[in-house]
Amino acid sequence: MFSSLFYIALLLFLLYGVSLAVDSINPLQFISDGETLVSKEGVLEFGFFSPGNSKGRYVGVWYKKIPVQTVVWVANRCSPLNDSSGLLMINKKGNLVLLYQNKRVVWSTSLAKQAQKPILQLLDSGNLVVQEEQNGNLEGYLWQSFDYPGNTMLPGMKLGWDLRKGFNRLFSAWRNWDDPCPGDFTWGIEIDVQQHTFPDIYMWKGGEKYHRAGPWNGLGTSGMPVSRPNYLYDFDVIYDEEEVYYTFNLKKKSLITIEVLNQTTLTVQRLTWVEAVKNWQIYYSVPTDQCDNYGLCGGNGYCVIGGNPACQCLKGFKPKSEEKWYSTDWSEGCVRNTPLDCEDKYKDGFVKFVGMKLPDTAYSRSNKSMNLKECRAKCLSNCSCMAYANSDIRNGGSGCIMWFGGLMDMRIVTSSEQALYVRMPASELGKSSTKVRAVKVVAIIGLVSGVLLLGFFIWRKKFKEKYRKTAKYGEQEEDLELPLFELSTIIAATSNFSLSNKLGQGGFGPVYKGTLDDGQEIAVKRLSISSGQGIDEFKNEVTLIAKLQHRNLVKLLGFCIQGLEKLLVYEYMPNKSLDFFIFDQTQDILLEWSKRFNIICGIARGLLYLHQDSRLRIIHRDLKTSNILLDNEMNPKISDFGLARTFGGDDGKSEGKTKRVIGTHGYMAPEYVCNGRFSTKSDVFSFGVMVIEIVGGKRSTSFSLQNEGLTLTGHAWTLMQQGRAIELLDSRLRDSHHDLQEVSRCIRVGLLCVQQRAADRPSMFSVIVMLSSNSSLLPCPNRPGYFMETELPQRDCDPLLTNTITISGPEAR
Ligand SMILES: *[C@@H]1O[C@H](CO)[C@@H](O)[C@H](O)[C@H]1NC(C)=O
Ligand SMILES: *[C@@H]1O[C@H](CO)[C@@H](O)[C@H](O)[C@H]1NC(C)=O
Repeated sequence: MFSSLFYIALLLFLLYGVSLAVDSINPLQFISDGETLVSKEGVLEFGFFSPGNSKGRYVGVWYKKIPVQTVVWVANRCSPLNDSSGLLMINKKGNLVLLYQNKRVVWSTSLAKQAQKPILQLLDSGNLVVQEEQNGNLEGYLWQSFDYPGNTMLPGMKLGWDLRKGFNRLFSAWRNWDDPCPGDFTWGIEIDVQQHTFPDIYMWKGGEKYHRAGPWNGLGTSGMPVSRPNYLYDFDVIYDEEEVYYTFNLKKKSLITIEVLNQTTLTVQRLTWVEAVKNWQIYYSVPTDQCDNYGLCGGNGYCVIGGNPACQCLKGFKPKSEEKWYSTDWSEGCVRNTPLDCEDKYKDGFVKFVGMKLPDTAYSRSNKSMNLKECRAKCLSNCSCMAYANSDIRNGGSGCIMWFGGLMDMRIVTSSEQALYVRMPASELGKSSTKVRAVKVVAIIGLVSGVLLLGFFIWRKKFKEKYRKTAKYGEQEEDLELPLFELSTIIAATSNFSLSNKLGQGGFGPVYKGTLDDGQEIAVKRLSISSGQGIDEFKNEVTLIAKLQHRNLVKLLGFCIQGLEKLLVYEYMPNKSLDFFIFDQTQDILLEWSKRFNIICGIARGLLYLHQDSRLRIIHRDLKTSNILLDNEMNPKISDFGLARTFGGDDGKSEGKTKRVIGTHGYMAPEYVCNGRFSTKSDVFSFGVMVIEIVGGKRSTSFSLQNEGLTLTGHAWTLMQQGRAIELLDSRLRDSHHDLQEVSRCIRVGLLCVQQRAADRPSMFSVIVMLSSNSSLLPCPNRPGYFMETELPQRDCDPLLTNTITISGPEAR
């Protein structure tokens, strides 16, 4: 009795003792169900598993240390075993073989070349490789799982073609989360080497193009410029004689990141493991919005996010079928106003479009050695060439892509600096150049076209209304789900906008407290009349904002439009705003550090949502502590967001330039004050100022008044340089016990956000990862913007712009 137990124990010890310690096997060994290979540093594990609710047994690779089952590669994707009798082995030729009930081969690999003394090894990268035992890495791999991808891209994996061997690494989603067999959602690169088309990265749904990344321009894809610097990842697309592939790598090995095809949502999601919350966080999810749907606007049309309608024809083009176009079926696209005259092709010219995602390169020809001038000449010489562009935008631009046929799948990408040149007949070009030359002509044309435009808009409105009745109700036509308040209700609730009800002044108008008949308290924002927005645009905007839901954003309850009044009704936050708690020295309730840290993280999450998770990509433009409201549990809620994007006449773009700089002194990024250029990075700047204020418990504006012009951020940076950063911490918090690591991490992150150059500042996602990771991910910040108050840029700015700056002064003294 005792001895048999002993033998069982010994057996178990041998089985598990072997499996736990080993990262490779040779042809004399095998792996049975229950045993695993573990990579050298213990990151990944290879063995038998059952996904989700499935009972079937599969062989695959997963993260060993992550408590949420995360399988990154599966061998027998479509042929599960029904019991635990499976054996995985490597035969003498070097092929992997999965045996079922000791006899049936369920899955195997087939090498072209026979191996001598092969071993199977699981590497820490997640790559399962077959190589010769002696030669090690010198010979390269005879086989590797990275060449047979499933639904997950690990750092260092390649998506795309090995042109020498003519094989393609195509990713495919799992059919569902219980079944790793390929679904119909795939991801890969398309290229026609013979025709010299330029490669493009696509997602397909059931074989149809579903999303396109846009050609790689050396810095990013033209559809999604990579924000630089990226503190967390490196992305690259390699395109040469031998290979065409996309890959990404991590800046720090401690960061665990993967890209996964999700068949449920039909997206590719970039997930990062965040230890602090013990879960995967979605960093990016593509497609992101309506405009990311492949070819939404048809040929020669382009998509504008938040636009009404979403699709527009390129300049010089008109809808092919007006009837369909105005009933929001854009699939037929646009045709030229004036057809090209091929007899006279050398009279054609090109119109330059900047900030446009380049069209589908499936219909392109490319040549890396041509410059832009040669590219133009070549395109001009062939009447079917519709457009051209540089293929690489680095170092002033090089290479040539030319498009033939319709220009498909374009959208506005404001942060892109790449130019697309679209062919136009001389007659179309003439129209615009006369305008530039003679002022008189401008005036006349202006007058005439003004009248025409007015006529057109009236006609179009009628036309649209007519079709709206018959058209199917698409997303655009959705009724506002938001309550429409009567002006009289609001007047009663706010005692006719009385001064005693005024809560404050935001960038776009005053805010009042109100009480509805049923006792519900509300905050009413009265938008400045000068906002110059039409009723339709306003409604459109409000509908979009109403869809923003995040626990770190103040909730919109309804709106009101009547006469000249445009009002937004928000939930009322009784706990006032953040500035009240951190700057008021007499406050009884001192915000302790853990609360402050929660607030910083909450603001960061709300802002990330505005910048990238919501479908809108909103830039706030007036972030400051008085715009952060606190609920009963002191959770932060960003207020005054949303309308930020279109107010100020920047035609609905999410990044751009405005002549009307709105914001608050001390929080605005240098490039915004100076040139009116705003972007997510100008919000990041304001966020950084807030972080430093929250840590220090000091208002940045009053600090520089008391310190001969040294700004609070400048002071923090100096302390950091001297290794005394921690001295920035609010003196009222010094005595109690805190996580000093957390404090210094916040200071470091805050300083990274306020760097002078917008390009140096991290994205909000990087901010969140940096705030919540314990690893030493944090680079050294450069000098902050406005190191000294005397560096305030008003003086150096373009005088035309400074006139239109509306800056609120320091609020409290
Ligand atoms: C698929 O995406 C949805 C939405 O983002 C997410 O909730 C879900 O967890 C994802 N599935 C997996 C298995 O990652
Ligand atoms: C124009 O270019 C297309 C596509 O490369 C080609 O098929 C056609 O022969 C060219 N036409 C002329 C006149 O060169």
